[in-house]
Amino acid sequence: MNGQAHASHPTDEPLFNPFAEGFTDDPYPHYAVLRERAPVYEHPLGFWVLSRHEEVSELLRSGNSVEEHNAAPGPMRDVIAGSYGDRAPRMNGMSILDLDPPAHTRLRRLVAKAFTPRAIEALRPRIRELVDELMEPVIGAGEVDLVRTVAFPLPFAVISEMMGMPRVDVARLRDLTGTLVRSLEPVADPEMLEAIVAADDEVMRMIADIIAWKRRNRGDDLLTALIDAEEDGDSLSDDELVAQVALLFIAGHETTVNLIGGGALALLRHPGQLARLRAEPDLLPTAVEELLRYDSPVQSSRRITVRPHRAAGVEIPEGAFVMAALASANRDERQWGEDADRVRLDRPNPHRHVSFGAGVHHCLGASLARVEAQIALEKLVTRTGDLALTGEVEWNGRINLRGPAHLPVAVR
Ligand code: HEM
Repeated sequence: MNGQAHASHPTDEPLFNPFAEGFTDDPYPHYAVLRERAPVYEHPLGFWVLSRHEEVSELLRSGNSVEEHNAAPGPMRDVIAGSYGDRAPRMNGMSILDLDPPAHTRLRRLVAKAFTPRAIEALRPRIRELVDELMEPVIGAGEVDLVRTVAFPLPFAVISEMMGMPRVDVARLRDLTGTLVRSLEPVADPEMLEAIVAADDEVMRMIADIIAWKRRNRGDDLLTALIDAEEDGDSLSDDELVAQVALLFIAGHETTVNLIGGGALALLRHPGQLARLRAEPDLLPTAVEELLRYDSPVQSSRRITVRPHRAAGVEIPEGAFVMAALASANRDERQWGEDADRVRLDRPNPHRHVSFGAGVHHCLGASLARVEAQIALEKLVTRTGDLALTGEVEWNGRINLRGPAHLPVAVR
């Protein structure tokens, strides 16, 4: 079956097991096996996995569904529905990430109004200031954890400022969103499920309070813009507003931390490329695209087929839950050549990566994430004389929003 599109027999030992020991530290060898042996893989649990660039890109652009109730009855539906029962996190289901057109089109248009490329460009100077504040103490500090000192706090500070957040218990909110973000990936542990449901409750209450405060304390910020977002007499209802704010807040920081941390790590592991970037900082925009490709901050996305879907000659039935392995597509030798597993700043087409998805759900925050990563990595490579890893990298243990949890680095 080598190289053939392949649906496994349900009793086969799974070729893909994201709960396997070591998977979250290094999933790439697992993806390579899938691409080679079963690029269209039917998992014994009843879901499908696409792992090559062509089929992943096609699926994302295919107009299939993101609404989980469209999944046909079967083991995967039971996993989705059975795990949360009727207590599914409210962000899931009501945010644009979980809605199909026309509901998606309507809400995305309203949210995007408050999220224009011009507004993001205008943030550059302030992001530079925030990066300076976070990085100055790091430069010359000897040994630091780059995730704790820079990669994590920067996106959190940026999205909080953009929103025009009141003074809230930031540590508590960070903790809660760190738990809630796990609802974007499969959860096997019942205690984690309980924690997610509880975190969802508390985050939704906190966000509703923040919105109520903002209605009394309007400003030139994203929250006020979302409250005001209106087109042809249409605006966001209270529940819709809370779900979009929760999504923006979580997507706004839990992903970019992985790009900055994972990107810095990739450069540290490719010292020749790091030296080149130091010498030619104009390469930064391209470098960020290559780093997005090399280690996807969001490893996968999913669709539910609303009609039979053909991929590499295999027919996936209607109602199937299909995982698009973005991280695997980004390492597909067929798309990138034999050195797909290496960082190469002069790669001709890194922007063909699918790290921000594709089609109608293409990431709304892509330009913001790019600006943050460009500024943070520019400062890191141009303002330090020497950078070296000093210890083991600890990964965050997540299957989907995967990145380093700690990055111990000597900075001189
Ligand atoms: C959607 C990745 C940063 C807001 C997506 C999707 C991906 C993604 C893959 C599509 C999911 C799908 O097709 O089902 C990333 C990565 C980021 C990042 C890798 C950082 C490196 C951000 C930021 C924000 C943001 C900073 C906002 C402040 C959103 C929103 C959606 C989305 C609102 C939903 C769009 C829709 O469904 O129409 N992101 N994202 N993201 N992202 Fe991002």
